Amino acid sequence: MNGPQRITLAMTGASGAQYGLRLLDCLVREDREVHFLISKAAQLVLATETDVTLPAKPQAMQTFLTEYTGASAGQIKVYGKEDWMAPVASGSGAPSAMVVVPCSTGTLSAIATGACNNLIERAADVTLKERRTLILVPREAPYSTLHLENMLKLSQHGAIIVPASPGFYHQPQTIDDLVDFVVARILNLLDVPQDMLPRWGEYHVGNDE
Ligand SMILES: Cc1cc2nc3c(=O)[nH]c(=O)nc-3n(C[C@H](O)[C@H](O)[C@H](O)COP(=O)(O)O)c2cc1C
Repeated sequence: MNGPQRITLAMTGASGAQYGLRLLDCLVREDREVHFLISKAAQLVLATETDVTLPAKPQAMQTFLTEYTGASAGQIKVYGKEDWMAPVASGSGAPSAMVVVPCSTGTLSAIATGACNNLIERAADVTLKERRTLILVPREAPYSTLHLENMLKLSQHGAIIVPASPGFYHQPQTIDDLVDFVVARILNLLDVPQDMLPRWGEYHVGNDE
């Protein structure tokens, strides 16, 4: 199997809930075990931007997401924001990669300072301290100097910043195509197989000479 078998996926309250849902779907289809975290703000954004309304309690959310994605029993594990006994809260139990998508500027700032005020922030902190893969997908416009400084700092500490800004060279026809572009970049970084987007050089654009 290419890429990590266990992955932490956290959704926070930036716009772009579809990116998180689509990534969850792709990871399930690639037989990954997903440790799923979601902030209160992200649940509000999700209800605003999609037709998905998640149950509030982690256990009910886990059942819902398992059915929604067609995951096998136990493949998706959902933890509450103060479940400090969850595997993601410690380096000895946490998966080897974590993605925060979408990543709010609030959570970005908290991770940059090592705040650890909730399980998402703690899991990201653990991922950094263990020198594992941490992918952050921020979305804001415009970015303030503070946002950019936080991104620079996190990048210097090993996090990978993937802005939620799809390219257009694959000639997207639908919103799903735009979502898939960003999700495919995340999957490439995780080394998890994806067939949504050819890698650069696999495109055939004109110049045959
Ligand atoms: C509909 C909606 C859209 C939002 N869009 C963004 C956004 O694009 N980027 C961002 O950083 N925050 C956005 N916010 C604000 C965050 O949700 C807010 O700062 C929240 O405190 C973040 O908390 P969290 O990091 O715990 O999810 C949005 C909020 C709502 C309700």
